Amino acid sequence: MTKHVVITGANRGIGLGFVRHYLAKGDRVSACCRQPAQASALIQLAEIHANLNIIQLDVTDDVSVHALPQHLNDAAIDILINNAGYYGPKGIGFGQLRAAEWQKVLAVNTIAPIMVTQICYPMLQKATNAKVICISSKMGSMADNQSGGSYLYRSSKAGLNAALKSLAIDLSSEEIYCLAFHPGWVQTDMGGPNALITVNEAVDQMARCIENLDATQSGQFLNFDGQQIPW
Ligand SMILES: NC(=O)c1ccc[n+]([C@@H]2O[C@H](COP(=O)([O-])OP(=O)(O)OC[C@H]3O[C@@H](n4cnc5c(N)ncnc54)[C@H](OP(=O)(O)O)[C@@H]3O)[C@@H](O)[C@H]2O)c1
Repeated sequence: MTKHVVITGANRGIGLGFVRHYLAKGDRVSACCRQPAQASALIQLAEIHANLNIIQLDVTDDVSVHALPQHLNDAAIDILINNAGYYGPKGIGFGQLRAAEWQKVLAVNTIAPIMVTQICYPMLQKATNAKVICISSKMGSMADNQSGGSYLYRSSKAGLNAALKSLAIDLSSEEIYCLAFHPGWVQTDMGGPNALITVNEAVDQMARCIENLDATQSGQFLNFDGQQIPW
């Protein structure tokens, strides 16, 4: 059956990969991005896919987030992919941390995915077994942290994971399922050219996990290949 998939940060990188994946399946895609007029890849896709809707959304802007239900016509959402993310300034170690930069990273990576999910909640309730997917990172894993540093990004994704866990528990009675993913080290602007896997490899494997997501897996933190990652 055709699904309605809503994706944030959909104009490039992993988000754009998800857009291409679900369009190829014939699903209806609402691709959210900060600057639709500059989203050339999405504009090209919209010329050949009538089931692609491009929507303005800055995930950290309250006004933009609150306009989302109207842009989506309050339609049922089967899959919400909170993908938009921000690494923050690179090479900033202990001794050089600045609160304002840290707050920006937390706003995009930790707070926004939950606020977007909250505004989409009535639309998620309209679907049967809706799925909320948060693109996190293994850098948010305490168990995996062997090298220190990356205070801003690590803490933002750890915070996201904590919130995602609560969300999964709180929405379980309504059979809305939630998952946090490490997408792999992916060749995007953020991952860089030396990254280990392509966007397509990451997206294909995550989409398979999303397809199979049920109550038994809701609330887990998974690698893109479906392996569980320790918190
Ligand atoms: N690539 C990797 O190796 C890797 C590894 C682990 C986790 N991740 C996670 O995977 C997700 C996607 O990353 P990526 O590699 O595709 O990164 P990317 O190529 O840098 O793309 C980031 C996306 O997020 C959007 N974005 C940033 N701030 C936003 C905001 N305030 N409102 C709306 N959109 C915003 C960007 O939009 P603009 O074009 O407008 O800036 C862009 O579409 C992120 O959550 C990231 O943390 C990536």
